Amino acid sequence: MKLDVVILAAGKGSRMNSNRPKVLHKIGAKQMLERVIDAARDLGASKVHVVVGYGAEQIKQAFDSQPKSDGLRWAIQQQQLGTGHAVMQALSGLNTQDEECLVLVLYGDVPLIKASTLQELLRQSDSKTLSLLSLISESPAGLGRIIRDGQGEITAIVEEKDASTEQKQIKEINTGIMVIPVVKLNRWLNKLGNDNAQGEYYLTDIVAMAAAENCKIIARVITDAREVQGVNDKAQLAGLERHYQMTKVDELLQAGVTVLDPARVDIRGNLKTGQDVEIDINAIFEGEVSLGNGVKIGANVIIKDSTIADNVTVLAGTNIDGAMIGARSVIGPYARIRPGTVLSEEVKIGNFVETKNAVIGKGSKASHLAYIGDAELGENVNIGAGTIVCNYDGVNKHKTVLGNNVFVGSNSVLVAPVTLADNAFIAAGSAINSDVPGDHLAIGRAKQRNIPGWKRPGKK
Ligand code: UD1
Ligand code: CA
Repeated sequence: MKLDVVILAAGKGSRMNSNRPKVLHKIGAKQMLERVIDAARDLGASKVHVVVGYGAEQIKQAFDSQPKSDGLRWAIQQQQLGTGHAVMQALSGLNTQDEECLVLVLYGDVPLIKASTLQELLRQSDSKTLSLLSLISESPAGLGRIIRDGQGEITAIVEEKDASTEQKQIKEINTGIMVIPVVKLNRWLNKLGNDNAQGEYYLTDIVAMAAAENCKIIARVITDAREVQGVNDKAQLAGLERHYQMTKVDELLQAGVTVLDPARVDIRGNLKTGQDVEIDINAIFEGEVSLGNGVKIGANVIIKDSTIADNVTVLAGTNIDGAMIGARSVIGPYARIRPGTVLSEEVKIGNFVETKNAVIGKGSKASHLAYIGDAELGENVNIGAGTIVCNYDGVNKHKTVLGNNVFVGSNSVLVAPVTLADNAFIAAGSAINSDVPGDHLAIGRAKQRNIPGWKRPGKK
């Protein structure tokens, strides 16, 4: 079976009250349109056609920079004259002579549709069948109703605004997702008119045309309403975001992760977890994050694009981005671990410590109030409170290298480029701007003077 997918995304989405085109708003940090395109790709579609109109340039720009844009074809619908008119704009890119080819119509603002559901719909589709996804809804207002005859056969779809009082009682609604053989689609679209309550070219009118030709029409009734829910305003966007987050948390719970409050964890990317992981409230995971066995994540922690090895403890308020944290390390509370940080095993990074582009050896510690940037530290190094690595001379960045067992006394300044060899000991309050050989004590501060009999100034 050959499959082309047409995604409708030309609508303005006025009720979003936003300058951004609706389909570029995100669920789980991924643009809605990207989610739909991903689902289409999972089906192995030969081509994915996206019909854009409002904000077309902005949407195209958002995708054309990505590798995913391969095989994407943009169709422009200048004026939004209805869903049927929208699909017509994609016709020129379809092989309308190919008897074998099916067209799947999706909406760019229905972001949570699953590839597996579409797969099931496709399984019941062939070149002689029009198949569609319907839903039994207790609140069908505003949606197209599925009309069936006495035998239960589908004869038409009627839009809310065109429906009789009797038809409005029908609870089976059209989700908008359909599979249509391309040859028939082409023929039906060419016959489509706009003589209806909204003066629009309704894609749904092809259903009555199919029935008139005795073409087989099958509806697959979906049970999970969220999968086919469209987003028209920020409340619906937020509702689907919450739903999406709950499904992600459910996956964690199923995998055996202890989540203290499933309503207060956000996964904005892919989170991999080992066994016996514990996650406290308000944790946010962004991009690609992996947590090893026995990892504990404290409250209000944000972790982005990082790998956390087994039995690491991340304490409250810590922010980790682009880092690798070695086994049994303890990070935080309130630590900021920036990109390029690579910690070996059993490292301790304490409160108000910032690291960036820093490779730190096994058992090393920076327990309080320090900045370690563009640095390489050996094993069992001790960085005293208030130590700052001056990696930037105002123009260029330079590197600082510390060997094993180096001890840096509190409130020291290490002016890069500088190397402190194994077992070097830096006296507290030193400004170190030249290398320290191994096993040396370095004192880099003015000698203390005590002045006897000194009187404080009196008040005038
Ligand atoms: C449509 C269906 C209705 C169904 C409902 C499900 C028709 C005529 N009606 O309703 O049966 O119950 O979806 O949500 O098909 N779009 C375009 N160009 C247009 C018009 C729409 O690209 O000219 C896109 C929109 O951006 C949106 C999708 O098509 O992604 C659906 O449009 P919308 O106006 O929300 O649907 P309705 O026509 O109200
Ligand atoms: Ca709608």
